[in-house]
Amino acid sequence: MNQPAVVEDTNKNAVEIEVPAYVRHRRLIEWVQQVAALTKPDRIEWCDGSQEEYDRLCQQMVEAGTMKKLNSAKRPNSFLACSDPSDVARVEDRTFICSQRREDAGPTNNWIDPQEMRTTLDGLFDGCMRGRTMYVVPFSMGPLGSPIAHIGVELSDSPYVVTNMRIMTRMGRAVYDVLGADGEFVPCVHSVGAPLADGRKDVPWPCNDTKYIVHFPEKREIWSFGSGYGGNALLGKKCFALRIASTMGRDEGWLAEHMLILGVTSPQGRKYHVAAAFPSACGKTNFAMLIPPSDMNGWKVTTIGDDIAWIKPGRDGRLYAINPEAGYFGVAPGTSEKTNFNAMATLKENVIFTNVALTDDGDVWWEGMTDTPPAHLIDWQGRDWTPAIAKETGAKAAHPNARFTAPASQCPSIDADWENPAGVPIDAFIFGGRRSNTVPLVTEARDWKQGVYMAATMGSETTAAAAGQQGVVRRDPFAMLPFCGYNMADYFGHWLKMGERLEATNAKAPKFFCVNWFRKGDDGKFVWPGFGENMRVLNWMIGRIEGTAKGEEHAFGISPRYEDIDWGALGFSRERFEQVISVNDAAWRDELALHDELFAKLKHGLPEALPEAKAGMEKRLAA
Ligand code: GTP
Ligand code: SPV
Ligand code: MN
Repeated sequence: MNQPAVVEDTNKNAVEIEVPAYVRHRRLIEWVQQVAALTKPDRIEWCDGSQEEYDRLCQQMVEAGTMKKLNSAKRPNSFLACSDPSDVARVEDRTFICSQRREDAGPTNNWIDPQEMRTTLDGLFDGCMRGRTMYVVPFSMGPLGSPIAHIGVELSDSPYVVTNMRIMTRMGRAVYDVLGADGEFVPCVHSVGAPLADGRKDVPWPCNDTKYIVHFPEKREIWSFGSGYGGNALLGKKCFALRIASTMGRDEGWLAEHMLILGVTSPQGRKYHVAAAFPSACGKTNFAMLIPPSDMNGWKVTTIGDDIAWIKPGRDGRLYAINPEAGYFGVAPGTSEKTNFNAMATLKENVIFTNVALTDDGDVWWEGMTDTPPAHLIDWQGRDWTPAIAKETGAKAAHPNARFTAPASQCPSIDADWENPAGVPIDAFIFGGRRSNTVPLVTEARDWKQGVYMAATMGSETTAAAAGQQGVVRRDPFAMLPFCGYNMADYFGHWLKMGERLEATNAKAPKFFCVNWFRKGDDGKFVWPGFGENMRVLNWMIGRIEGTAKGEEHAFGISPRYEDIDWGALGFSRERFEQVISVNDAAWRDELALHDELFAKLKHGLPEALPEAKAGMEKRLAA
């Protein structure tokens, strides 16, 4: 069934390759040939996305030591991969937006001239797949064939990437039917950057100290070198569905956002949809799968997406969101039956775990999974781990950015509309960072402009999701600092324009809220119980949307008073509430100074509406 590619390409580098008959896309075939000529793999494998292929690649990785098969009785069809200790998170300082003009990438992105970057990449990728197989991975972001979906093809020398992409995207042969002979696709090239020249022996997790995660927004092209991990390597996710898609959205009038999408149904049976942007490892997966506390069991939360939302105006002018992904690449540590029951149920089978610990009976464990840790484990670096060792050395059993890759369809709270190509209408946007102090539990913005201001100036303490220092507050506008594929000032302008369009069409505009689940007390512990109890805050927001809930105006917006929240059985005292809701004037003056710093950095093209919104707040603060 294979045909040799017929290529009249003048490119001298082109090599003859075997192509399955079902691949009819000439430009795609030529591109695969060119990349193969450059990277020089031993073999090319066209992935069809079948279970047989998945099982075979997993088996192959087990033999190579990349993965361990978990105990089938406890965790059917599931695997544990442990990465090289140097390759455990996204690398933001090695991530580049190579637009033609530097100002189009903007001051918050790393920019290198595209011509110069091409030369660098040509050098790095020359022969980088020697001794390896180059997999051709066709995938759709969004339901296959739906008008809102976009197709990509990732060429990768990592079987770990192939198997993860099969869970995270709609991956496989059917994509070629949609592509036809000349459909559009985003070319994505990925290499772990560890050629096996001259019979060099492979290692369980090949990677390279030199890393480049590169985007060419005008050409809609992605090149990734040196890492096998998560957002660095699964190119449909952050690289395509956020960085490239955000530039598509800017050009075409829609939004690609780092947002979960959930449905929330009130006891009266009214259903609302909320999209929430929290920075990496700040609670999106948990909020998307929330189970209301038992005294609020008239409420129901359903999951549409946990990480990325594509949001477009519908025919009625309202904003509709879809989840372009098909799986969850979620943070493992902290996930338990108590904190996220739905995630734990999603993880029962067919999961790839990365950098968690292995139990003696062949299952997985991570910090926070159970109150009492097992007496003995093999930690994510393959070392013996016991509670005593942990106490003495502080060694973590699982890496703080350990992840699970699981099919979204396995989530018990999955929304019936999660694959609806029309998307779900958004009633509210929520923005929230991880802040030990200053930022109140919840604040409603007075209007779209103030909402954009709130989102634009959001700060959050850095987490293990990205390499680098942790726990330092930085501005993370819209939780998109590492993911916006163009100038952040223009991005703010794009959001303001989307608001103006809603106003012009008289369509119902979503409300904006800002939340913070992470305020700490003097004892260094979180004051707010979080997780399911976040339903009480969501309840207040729905009340605001319905016009029934009251609140108190302050300098930055509207927050609930103690009596405005349904406390049910929680028993949260007035005094504790004060600790999570209070606005400290001195702390906010410092905070506003940080807003100024951000605006100074983004001064070229910064929309006037933002400093105007700030002036209004300062006036209220002074009053
Ligand atoms: P990415 O996948 O990196 O984008 O992360 P995410 O935003 O989906 O974060 P996730 O829901 O996975 O949560 C990250 C960490 O924060 C986990 O350890 C959670 O247990 C913890 N967390 C989530 N929600 C809450 C909350 O309401 N309160 C507290 N204290 N911790 C939370
Ligand atoms: C994040 O860092 O926001 C993630 C994980 O969702 S990764 O896919 O590695 O980007
Ligand atoms: Mn994320």
